[in-house]
Amino acid sequence: MQIYLTENYDHMSRRAADILAAQVFLKPECVLGLATGSTPVGLYQELIAKYQRGELSFARVHTVNLDEYKGLAPTHDQSYRWFMRHNLFDHIDVLPENTNVPDGLAADPKAECVRYDALRDTVGRTDIQLLGLGRNGHIGFNEPGPSFVKETHVVDLTQSTIEANARFFASIDEVPRQAITMGIGYIMDARRILVVASGEDKAEAVYNTVCGPITPEVPASILQLHRSVTLVADRAALGKVI
Ligand code: F6R
Repeated sequence: MQIYLTENYDHMSRRAADILAAQVFLKPECVLGLATGSTPVGLYQELIAKYQRGELSFARVHTVNLDEYKGLAPTHDQSYRWFMRHNLFDHIDVLPENTNVPDGLAADPKAECVRYDALRDTVGRTDIQLLGLGRNGHIGFNEPGPSFVKETHVVDLTQSTIEANARFFASIDEVPRQAITMGIGYIMDARRILVVASGEDKAEAVYNTVCGPITPEVPASILQLHRSVTLVADRAALGKVI
C-alpha cells in the first residue's frame, strides 16, 4: 500500500484529484469507481475545476458508484444519485447514460444486485476505485460482520453508520436502515484503489485498515490483499499510523 501524507483536507483533496485526473488523462475511456460521503466532496470540486479550466474531459468515461440507500428515489436530496449529480456529474461532461448508481427503488432488489454486478462485464473492469472509510472500517456499505460478502447485496446499516449519516437528514429517524452496496468482490477487482481519509475520527479506521489483522470485522482491512492501493490521508487521519 502506498501512503501519501497530506497536511489537511484541502491538501488531501488536491492530491487525490490529481491521481483521478491522471487516470482520466492517461486513459480517457476509463471506468471510474466512485464514492459518496463528505470526504470526496473536495476532490470532486477539484475535478470540476480541472474540467472547467479545459484540462480534463469525462466525455468517454464510465462511472460505477458503490452504493445507494434502499427506498430513496434518485430525486431525493439524500440519495446517492442526487449527491453525485449535485457534487460532480452535473458540472462535468460525463454522459448521464455512462453513470451507474444502484437503483434504491428497484422493485426486486435482488435482481438489481445481479444487474449491478453484471456491469463488471458490460462497462468493463474498473480502472480506479475511489473509497472513503467508515468510522467502523466499512467500505461502500460493507459493514463489519462475520464474513466478507463478495456480491452486490442489500445490507442492514449498523447503528454506528446510521448515527454517522444522521447529520445529513432532518432527524435520525429519517436515515434509511438499508442500502444496496457493491460487494467486496467488485471492489477488489478494480485495477487500482484510491482511499481517502481525513480527520481524527478516521484515525482508528485508518490504523486498522493499514496495520490491523485482515478481518471482516474491519471490511477495509481486506485492501491489504490488493496489489495496488493508494491511501491519501491527512495528518489527523494518519495520527495512529505515524
Ligand atoms: C459512500 C460510501 C461510504 C463512505 C464512508 C465515509 O458511497 O461508500 O463507505 O465512504 O461512510 O463517509 P464520509 O466520507 O462521509 O466520512
